[in-house]
Amino acid sequence: MLEVRDVAAGYGKAQALWGLSLTVSVGEIVTIVGPNGAGKSTLVNVIGGLQPAWQGSIDLDGVELTNLATHRVCASGVAVVPEGRRVFPEMSVSDNLDMGAYHREARRHRDETYAEVCEIFPRLAERAQQLAGSLSGGEQQMLAIGRAMMSRPKLLLLDEPSLGLAPVIVEAIFDVIREINKTGTSILLVEQNVVEGLELAHRGYVLEEGRIVREGPAADLLDDKELQASYFGM
Ligand SMILES: Nc1ncnc2c1ncn2[C@@H]1O[C@H](COP(=O)(O)OP(=O)(O)O)[C@@H](O)[C@H]1O
Ligand SMILES: [Mg+2]
Repeated sequence: MLEVRDVAAGYGKAQALWGLSLTVSVGEIVTIVGPNGAGKSTLVNVIGGLQPAWQGSIDLDGVELTNLATHRVCASGVAVVPEGRRVFPEMSVSDNLDMGAYHREARRHRDETYAEVCEIFPRLAERAQQLAGSLSGGEQQMLAIGRAMMSRPKLLLLDEPSLGLAPVIVEAIFDVIREINKTGTSILLVEQNVVEGLELAHRGYVLEEGRIVREGPAADLLDDKELQASYFGM
């Protein structure tokens, strides 16, 4: 479904991704793990059209997304939840959700999708009229994910949704990701939380200094002694 081929990207003269290739198949949860500064956010932003690719190609179901504007990437079926849960604090929860449903197909199905999102996130439904800025950190992350779901994506990209949240909240967010995946949405998750991120996934990639150094079924990566020694703090 998603095919990233030989993508390079960076900032000015500083290259952050070096010829990176990966795939996500229909129905999969794929997790990319790697240390701080490895290039995880750069990768998410390039796929989501938030940042240009210097070389290579990205396509979804055969439709080329490389260097399209974000709204076109979104209309093609890819939604991004960027790092740092950016919600609109002065807007209500329900208005924040509606911001996610801006392309034509999403608007047409707005009520149906809204009901589905409220089912996955009952807390958001309860707080629909509250200002987003009054929500807890975990609730704001849920809102950011719910807003992305409002565009009815085929593929959801999540950049470190667990960042800065208490373990019990992280668990709740990972449960939600599982549930969203069960409804048929493919997931590409980026995580510094290596063990939990891989436990959730079907397949994984390990990113180091802008290159993929390992890939495979998530269970194999979790079992790998070398990775355990370098990453999992075991
Ligand atoms: N806005 C930026 N300007 C310059 N360099 C950046 C910027 N954002 C990230 N980088 C650099 O790009 C590399 C990859 O960063 P990033 O994709 O944020 O990694 P990760 O998300 O894995 O922590 C790092 O070396 C980082 O310092
Ligand atoms: Mg990052």
